[in-house]
Amino acid sequence: MNVLVTGGAGYIGSHAVERLCDEGHHVVVVDSLVTGHKPAVDERAELVVLDLRDTAPLVETLQSHRIEAVLHFAALSIVSESVAQPLRYWDNNVGGALSLLRAMDEAGVHRLIFSSTCSTYGEPEQMPIREDTPQRPINTYGETKLAIERLIMDHGRARPDFRYGVLRYFNVAGCGASGRLGEDHRPETHLLPIIMQAALGQREGVSIFGSDYDTPDGTCLRDYLHVDDLVDAHIKALDALEKRPALVANLGAGRALSVRELIASVQRVTGVQLSVQEAPRRAGDVAVLCSDARHAHDVLGWRPNHSDVDHIVASAWRWHRDHPEGYGD
Ligand code: UFG
Repeated sequence: MNVLVTGGAGYIGSHAVERLCDEGHHVVVVDSLVTGHKPAVDERAELVVLDLRDTAPLVETLQSHRIEAVLHFAALSIVSESVAQPLRYWDNNVGGALSLLRAMDEAGVHRLIFSSTCSTYGEPEQMPIREDTPQRPINTYGETKLAIERLIMDHGRARPDFRYGVLRYFNVAGCGASGRLGEDHRPETHLLPIIMQAALGQREGVSIFGSDYDTPDGTCLRDYLHVDDLVDAHIKALDALEKRPALVANLGAGRALSVRELIASVQRVTGVQLSVQEAPRRAGDVAVLCSDARHAHDVLGWRPNHSDVDHIVASAWRWHRDHPEGYGD
């Protein structure tokens, strides 16, 4: 299949591109390289450096490569930044998605898989989180992703030939089995890469943001899913659109780990003792986020196979140890 991947130079997108190439698909990556890394793009894929809001060249790219499906990963995704710069986030994330849908419509491309997030649920009363749990985001990042979900669904109602999958990710972590791809955000805000940097001696230690939450060990619980499992679900979702017009699914491992448990796993796997400090809560964090992943299993036949915590950590450790400067670009 001819597949266009937006954000294919980013952490998750680059893993999806590698897998699609392995499976023999013709892959075109569209990435602005504002947060993505050129060396992360698989050599078998074609890279088009473009801002998604630039609709005309996007139409040209879709048409000239006879694209049949789009995987839309590209987005700004740092929660704290989104709250400080809402206009930038609305413009980039929602403006980019709107332009992409327009371009797909004009080019006659009718298959879309969209990267959404558990951040669209905000602080839910019900745990684990199901797809019908009310979506009430508490930050701009989650608001923009929810707006895009609605945009896609609205477009789907008007265009019966348009098929879409909305996948709501929980905490994606770890690095791919090939050892070529990893997680390199600037600045880094995600917990596992931060602990990796501490284990490499690049940071003094790890700060735990809040140790007085109403959880067993007082720290936040998150549902960490290996990036390879996440990519598996995308491949299955793409196939599923052959038979169904729309699907919405949570993607998580269905179990929650605390910040302390993740730190303990890193110490176990790496053999490095970390200096850990308790710090104040981080604004916008919710105590517990855990998926109910049964729906993804039912509709996609998907189950996470790589999300054992020590496996996630070992895969991340391998990449960070081999790439202490990240992609170095
Ligand atoms: N944390 C620390 N110390 C750190 C970094 C993080 O204690 O140095 C804690 C956070 O407070 C949180 C947990 O580790 O309790 C996980 O934090 P991350 O920043 O790694 O991830 P989030 O849970 O904030 O991720 C959320 C959503 C994702 C979304 C992401 C956007 O769960 O779906 O924000 O960046 F994609």
